[in-house]
Amino acid sequence: MASVKLTINNQAHTIDVDPDMPLLWAIRDVVGLTGTKFGCGIAQCGACTVHLDGAPIRSCSYPVSAAAGHKITTIEGIAKNADHPVQKAWIEHQVPQCGYCQSGQIMSAVALLKSNPKPTDADIDAAMQGNICRCGTYQRIRQAIHTASADMAAAPKMPKSTPKLGKR
Ligand code: FES
Ligand code: FES
Repeated sequence: MASVKLTINNQAHTIDVDPDMPLLWAIRDVVGLTGTKFGCGIAQCGACTVHLDGAPIRSCSYPVSAAAGHKITTIEGIAKNADHPVQKAWIEHQVPQCGYCQSGQIMSAVALLKSNPKPTDADIDAAMQGNICRCGTYQRIRQAIHTASADMAAAPKMPKSTPKLGKR
């Protein structure tokens, strides 16, 4: 056992675990965030996708000790009120069927739109190919990503810094 410090969704956690424990186990069973799912356990299905420093990883096959010192984001952390444009587009297009794969799908879609704000169908297929959906929701996933892309492009941009008021 070892003491491992994790930062998940901007919250610090110190947990006592086997350093080789998969990050997914730590997220779900130790920290208690159950939005991230266990599918195959061998990095083949994408159900367990979370972000490590903004990039998607398969948490079922990533040792918890290797995640220490990095910024981990789970489905619970992408938006305060579950209202990320990708989540909204998922609802608009009624993407989920059984829902089991969908948190992983959303995490991959969020990462895609961060690196490529206007993906083509081919870009989407390439980025999402590691996320398997046994219910076959791929067409709706693609449509929802295009909708989220358009919504994000149309959203007003926040100013980088607040202009200082001059002395009067
Ligand atoms: S559970 Fe991790 S990729 Fe399938
Ligand atoms: S919605 Fe059922 S596995 Fe994807």
